[in-house]
Parts: sequence; structure tokens; C-alpha cells
Amino acid sequence: MSISEKDYSAIAARHGVDLAKVKPVPKAERIKRLTEILARTDVPFVIDPAKASKCLADYVADQPFGVGSFGDRKVDLGEYSAFQMYENYTHEEHLSWACLVADQQHTKHQFACREYLSGEAMFEIGDCVIPDFYLLNARIYQQTEWQLSTVSMIIPAELFFTCHSLKFFPVTTFMRELEQDYLQEPDIGHDVAGHVATFTIPSVAKVMVNHGLARDLIYVERNARIADAGDDSTKIDEIKSWADELLLYAGRIYWFTVEFGLVMQDGEVRDFGAGILSSPGETIYSIDSPESNRVLIDPSCDHDLLRLATTDYLISEYQKTYFVMKSFDLLESLTPERILRTAKKAMELPHYTWREVVPGDDTINVGSVVTSPNEKYYRLLNNQPLDECLTRAAIRNLRMYATRFDMSLLNQFRALPPEVPSEIIEWFRKEDVGDRFKIETEDSNDPDT
Ligand SMILES: [Fe+2]
Repeated sequence: MSISEKDYSAIAARHGVDLAKVKPVPKAERIKRLTEILARTDVPFVIDPAKASKCLADYVADQPFGVGSFGDRKVDLGEYSAFQMYENYTHEEHLSWACLVADQQHTKHQFACREYLSGEAMFEIGDCVIPDFYLLNARIYQQTEWQLSTVSMIIPAELFFTCHSLKFFPVTTFMRELEQDYLQEPDIGHDVAGHVATFTIPSVAKVMVNHGLARDLIYVERNARIADAGDDSTKIDEIKSWADELLLYAGRIYWFTVEFGLVMQDGEVRDFGAGILSSPGETIYSIDSPESNRVLIDPSCDHDLLRLATTDYLISEYQKTYFVMKSFDLLESLTPERILRTAKKAMELPHYTWREVVPGDDTINVGSVVTSPNEKYYRLLNNQPLDECLTRAAIRNLRMYATRFDMSLLNQFRALPPEVPSEIIEWFRKEDVGDRFKIETEDSNDPDT
């Protein structure tokens, strides 16, 4: 269905966008701007003149910018590599960007933390047209040393974190449909308008890099084990699954901080997570909705970090539990070694779900969708409705309890989880045969959304 100019005017007006400004700057003007940006020396990370010249020449020649063109680091994106073809964006796509960022600006200025807002101001994110990655990439590098790496779709967690260890941030090039508030698949409205400002918050940027370095530690161990496994393909597959599982649990820490983190600021709860702030609807919801739980977290406390790594979630709707950092400074404690250690503990322990308030939680509020830790088991037993997250955690935990689980490990939590009645475990042990309780794959829980 085609949309008329009249419809565009009405849509723009609904979001307070001046339709006349939804017009990309001509290439000649962008060349002039890029030339000025590349020549800047009053920035924390000055671009080497030779690299700047090459960048400008590529731009003039309509070449997509080379990933890693400003520094010495490189990353191989393989089959996920993509390019931004700036001239191909339609008027409707630019308008979709303009409407989304106008809404975002409104909610960000109500609910984002100070550091996020001042970071965003460096990059002209609130402009009325989709950013040209050449210009944006140069500004990001000069301010933060991060560089964009364009990808075609959600990339595997391993590659995502590899990019992070090298200060590359993977960004897609497509723009969501007009007036779409939330989508699972990351687009420019999320990757750029949500994430870029977070590179400027030192403790958050450090958490991002450290997840990349945690991935490196996992892969060193993985590859050593594979080398020891010789030709045993079954064992090699198990080792690969083990590494993937560790990345999944490390990814939860990333999810509840970089993507969906909140922070206490001047006695109020404020957003800094890119997943939240790229959705105007979720930005309001994350602070105001009585539906979700909000739990205060000290990321420097091992038990609190384990709470994040052991909490399963879904990406298909707004979050049901938000974790509020006591302060940004405490995120500095998330070293690669700590992330890895916590992921390993999470592997051995039962998991909570996104709806639960659990023993030891320092709750700011308990949401209306809260469930108790044992409710998922009773629902499974009685064939009552469960969302995918509760189903997944219930089956995983019961399988653990029903096999060889060492109950003494539970004392690693801040407070002991409620005991699961033995009759439920017995029931599960008898029922868990064949495909009856096949666990859904957790692939959908990629950290980047
Ligand atoms: Fe993201």
C-alpha cells in the first residue's frame, strides 16, 4: 500500500517532525562536512592524516567505508558483512527515522540519565535524516575510539563480542517501518539511536569491551579443550556447546546492563540501556509501569551479578524485571575474569525467570506480573499457561534437580531459593522422557537487540 504525501504530512505532524527537514543533505555538502570532521585535532582521538585522506577519497568515490579504517584493529565479519548504501534510503525511511528519534528525544529527556544525554549530544542523533555512517563513524572514533562495523542481520554472540573486544560496534543498515515503536530485530533506530551515546559513558563502554574480553577467555579455554579432544567429534560438540552456554550467561549480564540497565541518579531511577531508550514506549514503561519488577543491584557484589546471569528473559515484549544499578561506578568491577567466573557459576545453578522476585532481592517495587520462584513448576505440573521463559527455566531447573544436582551449591545465591517439593521433582523425573519436555532453543536470546 503506497502512502501519499498527505499521509506523510499527517504522520510527521503526529510526531512533531517538520517534513521539510526530512531531506538528506546533498553529497557535495556531506563531503565538505566530512572533510571538516576528519581534519579535527581538538578531539580525544585524532584521526591519522593518511587514514583521513583514504577515508575521504573512498567517500568521494562512493565506496562504503572500510571497517576499521581509522585504527589498526580489524575484524572479519565474514558472511554478515554489509554496507550502508546511503543514497538508497527512501523518503519514507528517513521519515521513519525522524519520527522515531523525535519520540525518543521526548522520552529520553524525561527518563535517560545525565551521562547518556550528554553523550548523545556529541553525535547529532536527533537530526531529521538517517545518519551517514561515514560522518557518524568519524565522529564516534574521535570521541570514543569505537568504530562502527556494518552487518546484515543479528550476528552470533561470539562474533558480536569479538567486535566488542576490539571496540567495533556492529550496526545494521535497515530502518524499521514508519511508527513502529518496538521490534526484536535491531535496526538503525536501535543500533545507532540507542547505542551510540552509551560509548561515551566510560563505565558502560568498559562493560562492553570486557564482555568482548570475557569471550576471548572463553575461547582460549574452548580451543585448548578441543585440541585435547583429538578426533572425538562428540566431545568436540560438547565443548562447543559448553562455550556457547557460557556466552549465553555472560550475555545476560550484558543484557541487563548495556541493553536494559537502569541506574539510580539523584535518588531517582533513570535509564541508560540502549534497548530501553531506543523504544519510546519502553522508556516510559521501564520507569513508570506498575506491571514490571524493579530490583536494586550492586554490580560489584558477586551475588548480585549472579542474579543477572541466572535470570532468563524474552526479547519479544517489554521486560518484566528491570535491574537498577546503585551507581555507574560500580560497573567498573565487571572485569572479564568476573564475567567468566559468574557465567560458570550460572551454568551449575538453577535459573530464575523474568517475572520472579527472588529471595535476597532489594526490590524497589514488585510488579503486577510477578510470580514466585516455584510457580513455574506448579504451572508445568498442572498444565497451566506459561510463557516461553517460564517453561524453559522450569524444565531446565527440574531436569537439574532430577538428575545429579548438588543441593549445597544453592548457597551461592544471596538467599536460598525456596525448596522445590520432592513430589514435583519425582513427577518430572517420570515425565521427562522422549520429547515431552524438549527445551526451546535459547538462540533468540542474542544480546544484541
Ligand atoms: Fe542492542
